[in-house]
Amino acid sequence: MSAWINQTPDSSSLPPVVRGEGVYLYDKSGKRYIDGSSGPALFSLGHSHRDVLAAVHRQFDALEYGFTMDFSTEVVEALSERLVRHMGAHFGGVFYVSSGSEATETSLKAALQYHVANSQPSRTRFISRRFSWHGATLGALSVSGNMGRRRYFAHAVPESIFVSPAHAYRPPLGIKPEEIPAFAARELEQAILTHGAEKIAGFIFEPVVGGSLGVSPAPAGYAKAMRAVCDKYGVLMIADEVMCGVGRCGAWRALAHDGVWPDIMQVAKGLSGGYMPLGAVLLSKPVLERIRSAHGNLETSRTYSGHSAACAAALAVLDVLERDGLVDKVAKDDAYLRARLDEALGQIAEVGDVRGRGFFYGVEYVKDRETKEPFPAEALFNRKLKARCIENGLLIYPGGGIADGRRGDYAIVAPPFIATHAEIDEIADKLARASKQALADVRQ
Ligand SMILES: Cc1ncc(COP(=O)(O)O)c(C=O)c1O
Repeated sequence: MSAWINQTPDSSSLPPVVRGEGVYLYDKSGKRYIDGSSGPALFSLGHSHRDVLAAVHRQFDALEYGFTMDFSTEVVEALSERLVRHMGAHFGGVFYVSSGSEATETSLKAALQYHVANSQPSRTRFISRRFSWHGATLGALSVSGNMGRRRYFAHAVPESIFVSPAHAYRPPLGIKPEEIPAFAARELEQAILTHGAEKIAGFIFEPVVGGSLGVSPAPAGYAKAMRAVCDKYGVLMIADEVMCGVGRCGAWRALAHDGVWPDIMQVAKGLSGGYMPLGAVLLSKPVLERIRSAHGNLETSRTYSGHSAACAAALAVLDVLERDGLVDKVAKDDAYLRARLDEALGQIAEVGDVRGRGFFYGVEYVKDRETKEPFPAEALFNRKLKARCIENGLLIYPGGGIADGRRGDYAIVAPPFIATHAEIDEIADKLARASKQALADVRQ
């Protein structure tokens, strides 16, 4: 066995990848894989994009990192200005980290610091949602409702308050999908009142849930209803757009679709498109101004905050997104991707649902389409699906546990923004073939 502790659930060996180009990756044997999920919704520009590589090389040739406690750099200033321009003047500033988990840590700390600055230090608790993922570090894990990923640690992290996700395919008992916003707003208000508004610091949520629900956009009106409750009780709204943001849903901000502004927003993944590790937290003007006037600045130092090569990668990604109109392309091709997935997968009886937005789709597999009964966890359907996808030269993001924590299989389809219609066809067709093969495997 390799000395490397890899990230797969069963520590299995993985094909050695050696090269990438556009939406394709190649392993050592020369086998080609189409990247149907941009890794974990990460590689928005695909692989080995010349413009991004050139920008990172240029930065490295000049200077690897102008340490941001000693210097400002052109790239960190330019990236921040550009991010605020795209995300909205509602935001007063950006703080950089190196991952989504660290972004969550920073958002939580910023919310706590804001309340201290506001003379409300009793506001220390966070409300999150079941079936959510905000990261692997202990603080981020404390607000993550993904049962599988919490299971060995939940007893040791600060206790958060969990409310229902806004999940149209499996709504709360007795609630119709269109009733979710009103139901969720009542539930959030009840949670705040039960624990005491003076104790609640923030409400954190993914505007479009990623891995913990196999992609789930909230029904229309949900984010607005939650915003109203947060406002009523002085609770900060934290939008986790690590997976769904920076164009992935066909808009620069996923929440733009709902016409809602969060107090704090975090992005990562697509921000640097996987070329360098980078995450960012954007604070609304009032939140940042309150913190600055009381404490001078956000209190959260990081060795790598605003690393020059990472910022150069992100700036180049934004350049390409702008120049090639890729966010608009994603919005436009959303219909094509949906239609192709519906067409290729719709005839498969065990495909219970295809849902999503932009280039961020989830396919949920069930044993019975009528009752939505999932496959037993022991069937390991999603692992079998992954193996069949790999065999067919397709990379996809499969997972489980979205029905009840253990059962419930899904595959995330999230192509790079550059994917052509022909490449989308290839992804949909290969997924359909792999799905049929994996279904035959579990029937055996
Ligand atoms: C919504 C969301 N938040 C936070 C994270 C954590 O990001 P990272 O894995 O970069 O630490 C993820 C990772 O998948 C995510 O999807």
